[in-house]
Amino acid sequence: MAKIREMFNQIHKRYDMLNHLMSAGRDIAWRKACCKKLPQKKEAVVLDLCGGTGDFSLSYLKRAKNCKLPIVGDFAEKMLGVAAKKSSDLVPVQMDATQIPLANGSVDIILNGFGMRNIQNLDLALSEAFRVLKKGGYFATLDFFKPEKKIAKLFYQRISPLAIPFVGMLFSKRNAYRYLVISILSFLNPVDYAAKARNAGFTLRSISSLDGGLAHIVICEKK
Ligand SMILES: C[S@@+](CC[C@H](N)C(=O)[O-])C[C@H]1O[C@@H](n2cnc3c(N)ncnc32)[C@H](O)[C@@H]1O
Repeated sequence: MAKIREMFNQIHKRYDMLNHLMSAGRDIAWRKACCKKLPQKKEAVVLDLCGGTGDFSLSYLKRAKNCKLPIVGDFAEKMLGVAAKKSSDLVPVQMDATQIPLANGSVDIILNGFGMRNIQNLDLALSEAFRVLKKGGYFATLDFFKPEKKIAKLFYQRISPLAIPFVGMLFSKRNAYRYLVISILSFLNPVDYAAKARNAGFTLRSISSLDGGLAHIVICEKK
């Protein structure tokens, strides 16, 4: 866990730029698409879990202006530092997703962008997300899951192992971007992830494939 935290602390400066570059700007559209699927409740408490530099929260804020200032929860303090500089509308809080420092049933919406894939004890993180959500609350996961469709397989199994670490080496840390590819190939597919979320207590609302399966959105509810 300490290694993952250190890795994100090392890449914080160019994290956003490389996200946009490597996804050709699609990461912005994917976060937006995910936010569109979520309800907008007045005064909603929003937790952006593994929120990093805060882009998911800012995307949600554009649609749901009535929510409370989103809590950006992440264990890498330098990623949170970028979020803090980006906007005073964000509330960065250093936290571990497997031990969320919030009360039971205190959150309306949990956003999780490209975060769960990095967590070793996924079951514990899912049960923590379930614990802090209110009844009727939503948990949205946007991530790169294990590829299953042809285009996604071609991209993640053939192109990415060469291209992503190379671009990472040019602009940031090669090993962090090598890890990115490995983490995608060794993650769950969206259906198996949803099954794990169900085991943690969630009810599955929807699974959406984005851009030929390059990314997916999994929306769960605490009924
Ligand atoms: C790929 S970044 C995603 C950042 C942001 N959500 C986005 O949409 O760009 C993954 C983030 O998860 C954080 N993270 C990984 N494991 C974590 C854990 N156990 N607890 C809290 N944060 C974690 C990392 O520090 C990193 O900032």
